[in-house]
Amino acid sequence: MNNPVLFALENDLPLHEPLQAAIGADAGEIDQRRFPDGESYLRILSPVRGRRCVLLANLCRPDKKFLPLLFLAHSLRMQGAIGVGLVAPYLCYMRQDKAFMPGEAVTSRIFAELLSTCVDWLVTADPHLHRYRSLDEIYTIPSRAISGMPAMQAWLAQQKGPLLLVGPDRESQQWVATLAKATGLPFIVGEKQRHGDREVSIKLPADDRITNATSVIVDDVISSGHTVLQTLAALRDVGAPRTICAAVHGIFAESADEKIRLAGTNLLATSNSIPGNHCAFDLAPLLAPAVQDLLASAGGSAHVTRDHQT
Ligand code: R5P
Repeated sequence: MNNPVLFALENDLPLHEPLQAAIGADAGEIDQRRFPDGESYLRILSPVRGRRCVLLANLCRPDKKFLPLLFLAHSLRMQGAIGVGLVAPYLCYMRQDKAFMPGEAVTSRIFAELLSTCVDWLVTADPHLHRYRSLDEIYTIPSRAISGMPAMQAWLAQQKGPLLLVGPDRESQQWVATLAKATGLPFIVGEKQRHGDREVSIKLPADDRITNATSVIVDDVISSGHTVLQTLAALRDVGAPRTICAAVHGIFAESADEKIRLAGTNLLATSNSIPGNHCAFDLAPLLAPAVQDLLASAGGSAHVTRDHQT
């Protein structure tokens, strides 16, 4: 009974089975539905008293998912779980990390505060750390952020060359540079200007290799898709013969994947952090050691109150 118990609020998460196997967890079962008025019903079917529990949550489009997550974490604790950790392969609400205009909510900080009261630890992949240096700046619980790049690298090794890695913007330099170092592939990095949620412009450096290679656009996340779309347009303008796109997280808001396909890319690949049609590489082997580390070090729940202890 030392195995952790893994729960998920959504069926068929592509990471569920591989993660459960990789961390040696027992399957946690719940019954959930919505009442006619839209409120959540939740019942935990697996015994959890004295057990360490792990929640796997897809936090893409999170607003409707957060309350059920809170209910599940809290109920597990009420029923005697000795710790409740969260694996959120895609960590939402990281991009509003500053009030750009007076009065704006810095939602990354607010969400981090809320989530830190809900679970005992957090494991995620490539969170959008732009103005924060680490999750510790906003999360008060222990956390681990793994990089999905080793999984992307294994996928990249199956692609036919010659390949040229293309980072759309300065931020992506870290990912293309890591992949380039590991694979020996050349890379270029563009300059991006964001003018709005759906408006970006990309300028690529002049480079003869673009016309002689398959360009592999690499990013951490594809959300509206406009960063990739503008990078594809810039590559096409200078005669790129073949393009493929890879990102750790594929949100694909507003059918962005279809727009990218119509823009003529030859292949679109993401990790399995968010369910979708383009999941091509598995994060479970990278997430599992971080989960095991936190399971081992977190011990009992920081949130357990005397009433809930047995
Ligand atoms: C930005 O800094 C990120 O690395 C991505 O380039 C960006 O979030 C992608 O967003 P979108 O798909 O909406 O252009």
